[in-house]
Amino acid sequence: MSKIRIGIVGCGGITLQNHVPGVAMCHDLGEITALADISEPNLKKVAGLTGATTTSTNYQDIVSRDDIDAIVIATATDTHMEVAREAINHGKHVLCEKPLALNHADAKAVAELAEAKGVVHMTAFTYQFVPAMRYLMHRVQAGAIGTPYHLRSCRLQDWGSRNLGWRQVKKHAGTGELGDMLSHRVNFAHELYGEMKRLVAGLKQFVPDRGGAPSDLDDWSALMVEFANGATGMMESSKLATGRNESWRSQDYLEINGSEGSFVFFTERWNQLQVGKPNGTGLEPITIPQDFWTWPGSPRDPNEGDPLVSFRYDQMFEFLDAIRNQRPAYPSLHHGAKVQCVIDAAVLSSNEKRWVDVRY
Ligand SMILES: NC(=O)c1ccc[n+]([C@@H]2O[C@H](COP(=O)([O-])OP(=O)(O)OC[C@H]3O[C@@H](n4cnc5c(N)ncnc54)[C@H](O)[C@@H]3O)[C@@H](O)[C@H]2O)c1
Repeated sequence: MSKIRIGIVGCGGITLQNHVPGVAMCHDLGEITALADISEPNLKKVAGLTGATTTSTNYQDIVSRDDIDAIVIATATDTHMEVAREAINHGKHVLCEKPLALNHADAKAVAELAEAKGVVHMTAFTYQFVPAMRYLMHRVQAGAIGTPYHLRSCRLQDWGSRNLGWRQVKKHAGTGELGDMLSHRVNFAHELYGEMKRLVAGLKQFVPDRGGAPSDLDDWSALMVEFANGATGMMESSKLATGRNESWRSQDYLEINGSEGSFVFFTERWNQLQVGKPNGTGLEPITIPQDFWTWPGSPRDPNEGDPLVSFRYDQMFEFLDAIRNQRPAYPSLHHGAKVQCVIDAAVLSSNEKRWVDVRY
């Protein structure tokens, strides 16, 4: 069977970290044949790594080509929806980085466009691919916690006051820590507890000058949530937890409590959960079943390399396998659009200092 021909728009950090090795792992399914980036050096670097011979500093040259089947969008947030719209209108399947857009209306419209055009569409909520998170979702769907009471998440990193490039500029990123890191955890919350009913949010900026350049975005964000299922949620995310470092070994904690049990998840413990039972004496660690150590069908060997890095490559497998099998990909652009709705509600709540209904 012929390989899926992939064009990547945006040849920066995440393309190097996730998408290039992801496609390399799935070499039986697809190959990167075209690249676009406004930066010539970034374009050359990824062309050198992948052997892609079609390159352009204008993404339109890539998304309009007949010899491309799928587009990966890995630019700064403000360009995602424009590139996605063009790609979908040319009949391409799209995998788009998070957060999807600068506002919910754009994200929702593009998700609906993708659906109407019948292309495979996906949002890169990479942490859904942590094996323990998939197992947690499986247990919750099977009713393991009984009546849901609480959800709590805490993402703590130390980015200090360094320059974050486009990430510290509202017109490019939309929001700071909220869209950057909390967006993944909002998707966790949707997947575990369903839609949110209302929320109150705080966004705060502590570092207005990053590496000599102005920042107009939040370094810290927090949400207090009521879910439609009646549960409550507390979610916090910071770039300024001094000493916790920037990597995936920083704090990424999630806990859910229900009438029949509790589960605690840490990204760094990729194949473990802590479990609490009614009348128990405390949380007990469990190792998740080996069936969950990789995404269904993924060629990844979880015993090879650092599984805390390589789980990310299952994301590309999911995208390409969905295209190959003409089925919806997970998480879709609809998932991304719903998260965008929460982001918009959080910004409104923080600006107006009040509870806001979430209207998906
Ligand atoms: N899924 C994850 O875990 C994860 C992790 C990091 C970043 N991201 C997301 O990935 C996206 C990119 O982040 P990054 O860290 O790679 O940023 P980056 O700045 O390292 O890379 C972005 C690249 O896009 C290029 N670019 C900008 N505008 C362009 C345009 N109009 N056309 C073509 N190329 C353009 C830049 O030159 C740069 O090479 C963001 O949406 C970010 O939120 C996701």
